[in-house]
Amino acid sequence: MMKIALTGLAFLGPALCAQPSAPSPIPAPLRPLPWGQLNFLHTTDIHGWWGGHLQEPSYSADWGDYISFAKHLRDRADAEGRDLLLIDTGDRIEGNAIYDSSKPRGKFTYEIAKEQHIDLICSGNHELYKQESADGEFYHTVPDFSPNYIASNLDIYNPKTARLEALAPRFKKFTTENQGIRILAFGFLFDFTGNANNTVIHKVKDTVQEGWFQHAIQDKELDLIVVIGHVDVRSDEYATLYATIRAAQPDIPIQFFGGHRHIRDYRIFDDKSVAIASGRYMETIGFMSINGLNTRSSSHHPRKSQEPKPTFSRLYIDNNLYSLHHHSAKNLTTFPTPNGLNVTTQINSARHSLHLNRLYGCAPRDLWVNRAPYPHPSSIFSWLSDSMLPDTVKTSSRVQESGKSAIAIINTGGIRFDIFKGAFTKDTAFLVSPFTSRLRYVKDVPSQVAVRVLPLLNHGEPMMKEQGIDLAPPEVVARKLRRQFFPELLRPAFSKLESNAQAQLALSATEHHNLIPGYTTHDDAGTDGDDTIHSPIDFFEVPNCIQAVVSQGDSKSDLAEDASLPTHIDIVYNEFIEKWVLMALRYLGESYKLEDTEEYFPGKSFTQLMVEWVEKYWGVDGEECE
Ligand SMILES: *[C@@H]1O[C@H](CO)[C@@H](O)[C@H](O)[C@H]1NC(C)=O
Ligand SMILES: *[C@@H]1O[C@H](CO)[C@@H](O)[C@H](O)[C@H]1NC(C)=O
Ligand SMILES: *[C@@H]1O[C@H](CO)[C@@H](O)[C@H](O)[C@H]1NC(C)=O
Repeated sequence: MMKIALTGLAFLGPALCAQPSAPSPIPAPLRPLPWGQLNFLHTTDIHGWWGGHLQEPSYSADWGDYISFAKHLRDRADAEGRDLLLIDTGDRIEGNAIYDSSKPRGKFTYEIAKEQHIDLICSGNHELYKQESADGEFYHTVPDFSPNYIASNLDIYNPKTARLEALAPRFKKFTTENQGIRILAFGFLFDFTGNANNTVIHKVKDTVQEGWFQHAIQDKELDLIVVIGHVDVRSDEYATLYATIRAAQPDIPIQFFGGHRHIRDYRIFDDKSVAIASGRYMETIGFMSINGLNTRSSSHHPRKSQEPKPTFSRLYIDNNLYSLHHHSAKNLTTFPTPNGLNVTTQINSARHSLHLNRLYGCAPRDLWVNRAPYPHPSSIFSWLSDSMLPDTVKTSSRVQESGKSAIAIINTGGIRFDIFKGAFTKDTAFLVSPFTSRLRYVKDVPSQVAVRVLPLLNHGEPMMKEQGIDLAPPEVVARKLRRQFFPELLRPAFSKLESNAQAQLALSATEHHNLIPGYTTHDDAGTDGDDTIHSPIDFFEVPNCIQAVVSQGDSKSDLAEDASLPTHIDIVYNEFIEKWVLMALRYLGESYKLEDTEEYFPGKSFTQLMVEWVEKYWGVDGEECE
């Protein structure tokens, strides 16, 4: 059992550091850091949230604070003869206006990111959707972190020579400074297929057969193998890597770091091998430690059978100053370092220059991605399918001038974050919808076919599997792979959960009135992994896609028995799901090609359309929100 620190619950006062408008963290009971011989701090799926969360006290520390925090932990490790390594497992870009609204899009991100010292770093899938962002890795992130960037299964067409080459070294072998632990490290990406054509991703099952990999894992002069990756810790890819390495080295400890699913998770492969996933969006700093490793002083002999087995510990840190001060034994005045303060200032001036506080309107209530079921008045997807999408589609020239009805379909994974009651700013718009995707359409599809597209996108498993890309939010996909932890999700369709949900929301609010709602992680080691003790937050699955129907001026999201549709109708969809929509139509016997599609609102991104809706319906004309 871990000890719970209940000390230091006094009022903390205004935050020194973090972004100026960030809310102060709320003191809460904390579990201590489980320091070991070798320690790690892990971030993943940052998606541009360098400034932290400005509307949520639990995650309100920024990248500058993380720099200060890491410095204090490194100092302590040095003083005590331990080692500390920092890891980042990709998807650093896309998902926040600091990245997505800057021109060029990486303008601030690379400069901010490189201020942290990271010991092992790799690419996610988001770095590779567009040619420019993959080139951004080549020109910025790889050299900024050299030689710590690892690309075990990722190649790029060198933008200078047009030759295909590894984006970065395939592996790294090094010895830790204080303990002298000999580490071999790899950096993987899952078997992603949606990348732009300037990169090549080798499937993990092929990579592990390659000579260089087979050779590297035969090395007997090692104390630990570290596999970092933008990979779900419960994926086939990691199962393959684990099995291959374990077959070559039956005794070596293997530490995996994963991500991609935006969740906290910890998987135990065997008594010498574990994996951690550390959440998303700068909400979580994962702390991992190992004891019982061979070290320089235990003289590098082959392991003897009486040697102790390695022991592993994990803690998911809520990224706020209360937690960071506590774990670094610093206070308001002693915590910020000059470099950390600099970076906080740098982020703030980037936010200013991008006018991220610009107010578009006031959201009348909270709208959730996963904290409410769909459909539900508090679901962001109900707002989209009942209001934003139909109101917007109704203004198109196809409806206004040609009198055409439309079914508009978007994927839920394209919506990245909740909307909180109150100010809806430029910042909010990009948090909710960061992508440059536009709405496109296929005109005059037979209605009888058109109405069958959504069910196919939501339930046509064989068809959907072909692409290996998820349309639902990562957290939803993650749950499907983790039924053992979420038995309540074995309940039937989401729409039937509505009344249940209402009851649950009321219950959790009263039952846990002393605790702040937040992460209550259940993983392979139990339920004591979160640093902060929280009351639970509800989580609901949502479908892959949702739709709105605009028929002869009327709109609705439910099409069950619709007699009022004309014989032909436009199918409108966000660009990201174009392949799937065309595939669904083909599957239903209607063959359309890319040439049959057009932009529905020429020149406007979905994000822009959302902003226009907010200005029109939630606008306040320069006033403040209540
Ligand atoms: C990638 O696609 C673009 C246009 O779609 C094409 O011009 C270019 O030659 C392609 N590059 C490679 C390396 O195949
Ligand atoms: C912070 O800690 C330092 C050193 O321990 C101490 O001198 C100072 O009074 C503390 N400041 C606050 C605000 O508690
Ligand atoms: C802080 O930023 C200034 C100006 O950009 C720079 O000159 C200085 O070296 C930085 N200091 C640290 C500790 O990073």
